[in-house]
Amino acid sequence: MKTIVFHPETDNTAIQQAAAILRHGGLLGIPTETVYGLGANALDETAVLHIFEAKGRPQDNPLILHVPGADWLELYCHDIPPVAYTLAERFWPGPLTMILPRRDIVPLRTTGGLETVGVRCPNHPMTLAIIREAGIPVAAPSGNTSGRPSPTTARHMLEDMDGKINGIVDGGPCSVGVESTIIDLTVTPPRLLRPGGLPLEALEAVLGTVTVDKAVRQKLADGEQAKAPGMKYRHYAPKAPVTVITGTPGASAAYIAAHLTKHSGVICFDEYAPLFEGNIIHRLGPAGDKLAQAQHVFDALRTFDGTDVTEIFAQCPDEGGLGLAVGNRLKKAAGFHVVEAPRPLIVGITGPTGAGKTSALRALEQLGGCVLDCDAIYHDMLRSDDGLRRALTDAFGSVFTADGQLDRQKLGTLVFGDPQQLVRLNTIIYAHLPRELERRMAASPAPIIGIDAINLVESGLSKLCDRTLAVLAPVEDRIRRIMARDGISDEYARLRVAAQKDDAFYRTHCTDILENTSPAPEAFQKTALLFFQRLLADHLKK
Ligand code: TXA
Ligand code: MG
Repeated sequence: MKTIVFHPETDNTAIQQAAAILRHGGLLGIPTETVYGLGANALDETAVLHIFEAKGRPQDNPLILHVPGADWLELYCHDIPPVAYTLAERFWPGPLTMILPRRDIVPLRTTGGLETVGVRCPNHPMTLAIIREAGIPVAAPSGNTSGRPSPTTARHMLEDMDGKINGIVDGGPCSVGVESTIIDLTVTPPRLLRPGGLPLEALEAVLGTVTVDKAVRQKLADGEQAKAPGMKYRHYAPKAPVTVITGTPGASAAYIAAHLTKHSGVICFDEYAPLFEGNIIHRLGPAGDKLAQAQHVFDALRTFDGTDVTEIFAQCPDEGGLGLAVGNRLKKAAGFHVVEAPRPLIVGITGPTGAGKTSALRALEQLGGCVLDCDAIYHDMLRSDDGLRRALTDAFGSVFTADGQLDRQKLGTLVFGDPQQLVRLNTIIYAHLPRELERRMAASPAPIIGIDAINLVESGLSKLCDRTLAVLAPVEDRIRRIMARDGISDEYARLRVAAQKDDAFYRTHCTDILENTSPAPEAFQKTALLFFQRLLADHLKK
């Protein structure tokens, strides 16, 4: 069979020709916003049989019906709950498939023998035009050979289907990249059978409670039934075995870097690609951009076939938004072989001035740790963080100059004469800092992270930490150090020391204390290094 490729953009008879293929019982590749589908007349048993044959798909795995709008629901389903129409109004056309009771007109061949049927209205103008023109619901599974990654371009679909189908409509690359979300509305509460292009959170906003089928997150035991029959198959599997690494992006990157051989392939977020130079890699997109990850996940899984990689490591996004669908596709490709990367150990480091905090921070860096200097981060955020800038402007008026810089003098005059205003400023800073700290902690591949903050305890930043360490030292040693470091008089150094919290405060509020009684900074740095080594070893044991 010769497979015709249609280009409706340049050929104005393409829609009619494509619709005619469907009406005559043929097989047609159709573009949708999620993935390309392998379409046929859903009401024609023979046509539907040919879908199963072309894909090599097990007969018990039902197909979904593609319709041009919610007004077709009543034709193929019965006992439709009103909420189905609410969902259709919100999310159709779009990546949502609803499972509803089947009318007899829909053959059991199409539904894999089930009394229910999945229906969706795809968001692609060409496919909607073709379905309307054909006047029949189109049964369409993803257009891949069974077990292969779903195709997100016409070329990918041709790789699997050339010569096996009558035609394919080239509608460009798919904008979403993972298949539709499937929600079963025949049970209470509704059940998510497959995460997909519509985030679970969007469904929950309409439906309230939604249960998530077990097969979404884990491998089913032998004999256990998947509610969506397709979820039981090991899908999208590249030839080399895949290991999915969960955890923060930084932690999963570090894990992979530590376990890689030169024959490993890596699926990673863009930011971490330089860590894996020399290996075959496929980028998923930026760690924070789950739509990009959805668009690239199937490409990523195809990349490694035809290479000689012996294993594949994949960084996995968290489950929020499209992350649930991206993670599910990766985990299915891995046969649910998932490793959780160890979280970094987070140590808040504080103490009065002159005690030797800096030497402790250097020790942490010596261990490959990452130091987050809260003061420096606050100053970065003053330049670049819209949330903080807005909060400061709301509280203190226009404290930024025309070119966007903070007017330090103006803010200083406002807060330093007035303790209440100073408290207000600090409250704002410490409300915004954690967001940026958390972002940087999640991005860092370091096994141990130090949060360097003078006000660690008072600000509440200690809540972000596993341990809180105070570096203390005898007062006379501190005075000597401050005088040498800052070139100030004995008298002034004493004033500064007196203005600070006493040792008892730190002893009460911190989990760990390091006393710096060493005459030389190098000696204390060594003490600190041993201390952090022990903390890290204990943390990794857990
Ligand atoms: O985005 C999509 O949904 C794409 C495009 C082409 O529309 N289609 C797609 O179809 O992904 P397919 O066949 O690859 O996946 C449909 C899934 C299968 O896992 C199947 O088992 C499940 O939906 N399914 C279909 N009808 C069902 C039913 N009545 N009850 C439970 N699960 C059903
Ligand atoms: Mg599929």
